[in-house]
Amino acid sequence: MRVLITGAAGMVGRAVSDHCRSIGDEVFSCDHQSLDIADPDLVLTTLRQDRPEAVINCAAWTDVDGCELDPERAFAANARGPENLALASRQLNARFVTISTDYVFSGEKEGFYTQRDQADPQSIYGVSKLEGERRAQSAYSRTIIVRTGFIFGPGGNNFLSTIVERARHGDKLKGIADAYGTPTYSRDLAVRLRELAQLDLPGTFHVVNAGDGVSYEVFARAALDLGGYSSTSIESVLASSLHRPAPRPRNSRLRCLLSGPIGLSPLPFWKDSVGDFVALNARSELAAKS
Ligand SMILES: NC(=O)c1ccc[n+]([C@@H]2O[C@H](COP(=O)([O-])OP(=O)(O)OC[C@H]3O[C@@H](n4cnc5c(N)ncnc54)[C@H](OP(=O)(O)O)[C@@H]3O)[C@@H](O)[C@H]2O)c1
Repeated sequence: MRVLITGAAGMVGRAVSDHCRSIGDEVFSCDHQSLDIADPDLVLTTLRQDRPEAVINCAAWTDVDGCELDPERAFAANARGPENLALASRQLNARFVTISTDYVFSGEKEGFYTQRDQADPQSIYGVSKLEGERRAQSAYSRTIIVRTGFIFGPGGNNFLSTIVERARHGDKLKGIADAYGTPTYSRDLAVRLRELAQLDLPGTFHVVNAGDGVSYEVFARAALDLGGYSSTSIESVLASSLHRPAPRPRNSRLRCLLSGPIGLSPLPFWKDSVGDFVALNARSELAAKS
């Protein structure tokens, strides 16, 4: 398939580009510099030039606190961006997959959020991402929305990489004990995004690794144990003690009502994927040393 990937220098964009290449797709990887998704003319020109059969949008402004302080920039990337891509995909009759977030939910629910739950974002980031979902769906009925959360993987500025890196340097670590989510490995997510593009079934999907979900503290503890840092301690903290500008959901665990019924098997158990990630990190470190 001819696949155009936006935000291709980001954590998920890299994983999707790598995966699509590995299965023989013709891949057009566009980073922020080469394609600003907030620019409708550039989006249309790029898609007309590359003529993709599928567009997978991995671009977003993901700095949750930054979005709180600069809503205009948040809406440009996270709301108008998906809309521009949806409109251009429609013109080219391309499949369109765009990633959204668990932060569209308030976090007040106990248990898992499914597609039956009403979105009620509490942060500018969440509001801008939900607006991106709605604009994309109303611009192009073929849109596939993928909500996910707690993403970890190589090449990203993500919580888990930071924890492992800091443990390696002997730094003090903190883990939030009262915020829960369902971890998602960027490589597993990439496989599912491509499968969904292939299936071409419009709708909203929740895509996370299997398991009951965890707090950040437990998530970090698992990565440290699997990475050989069992003796490294984590200071347990409450989210409120961090005084961050943007509110975050207390619970944003996701479950999908649609994946099973359409024949998609669950993604691997999150701890197995954390193990893969930690092993990959260790191999990269060894290769860098030799
Ligand atoms: N990370 C998570 O835990 C998480 C959780 C839930 C959902 N998500 C969603 O997953 C998707 C991928 O996120 P990620 O974790 O891979 O984030 P990331 O590593 O921050 O990657 C996002 C990429 O998008 C680019 N970008 C920002 N604004 C853009 C624009 N206007 N036009 C084109 N590119 C732009 C960024 O480039 P610059 O850095 O150069 O600006 C960056 O390379 C996003 O939709 C995000 O909302 C992430």
